[in-house]
Amino acid sequence: MKDRHILITGSSSGIGRATAQKLLEAGAVVYGIARNHEKFQPDTKRYKPLTIDVTDLKALPGQLSDLLATQPEIDGLISNAGYGSFEGFENFSPEKIFSYINDNLTSHLVVTRCLLPHFKTKNRGDVIFIGSEAALEGGKRGSLYCATKFGLRGFSQSIRQESANKNIRVTLINPGMVRTSFFDDLNFQPGDDDENAIEPTDIADIIINILSMRSGTVVDEINLTPQKKVITFD
Ligand SMILES: NC(=O)c1ccc[n+]([C@@H]2O[C@H](COP(=O)([O-])OP(=O)(O)OC[C@H]3O[C@@H](n4cnc5c(N)ncnc54)[C@H](OP(=O)(O)O)[C@@H]3O)[C@@H](O)[C@H]2O)c1
Repeated sequence: MKDRHILITGSSSGIGRATAQKLLEAGAVVYGIARNHEKFQPDTKRYKPLTIDVTDLKALPGQLSDLLATQPEIDGLISNAGYGSFEGFENFSPEKIFSYINDNLTSHLVVTRCLLPHFKTKNRGDVIFIGSEAALEGGKRGSLYCATKFGLRGFSQSIRQESANKNIRVTLINPGMVRTSFFDDLNFQPGDDDENAIEPTDIADIIINILSMRSGTVVDEINLTPQKKVITFD
């Protein structure tokens, strides 16, 4: 990973943070996007924190364009930032539907739109989306979350085909419940046993493996689940 320069959205916590840590341990340079970097301040100059709100879609293209102008070495994107919102569908106002899709789907598309031309110019690049098991099957109270994750899956399949001839590899990772701060504002969480949740470091290990694959092979999609699915409610 020593010659890799990877941009991670949502690097301050959970899956993004674990991935940033593993990439830094492996020698990569990591550009980490979050709104608040207090929670994660690794002691290395190879970590470059960027205070950006990916849901500010007006400012985002300019912010990423400035970044690529000064850091043209960037050759990978982990598009990860997001949050959950789970209710019966009629509890979501039209405004909430609009803003949620903006935050959890459109932001991934806009970040990718900014990075892809750069990767195509380099004739190299890895794009890894953090999807979810909710990209594969709908469920009660999951309508909005599933809508964005199904959308992300179709998007990743499409740009994989569009970008393959420029040596860009596009992967979607679909985890079941991962033990992170994702559940802090929700009224449920995985059970307490180790087997009830995936650890964020498990996803980080998979990402390192994907990035280390021989060029010429693409990991399209990976699904993973806790060994024993247990959900507890507050
Ligand atoms: N945990 C699970 O069970 C699970 C399962 C499947 C998929 N996922 C997916 O995994 C991804 C990461 O979730 P996680 O579990 O790691 O949650 P997390 O621990 O809450 O981390 C979310 C990260 O995203 C950042 N973020 C959120 N909104 C942002 C914004 N508007 N602009 C910039 N950064 C933002 C947060 O930093 P700041 O708050 O500082 O901005 C934080 O670094 C999400 O896409 C989620 O849907 C999670």
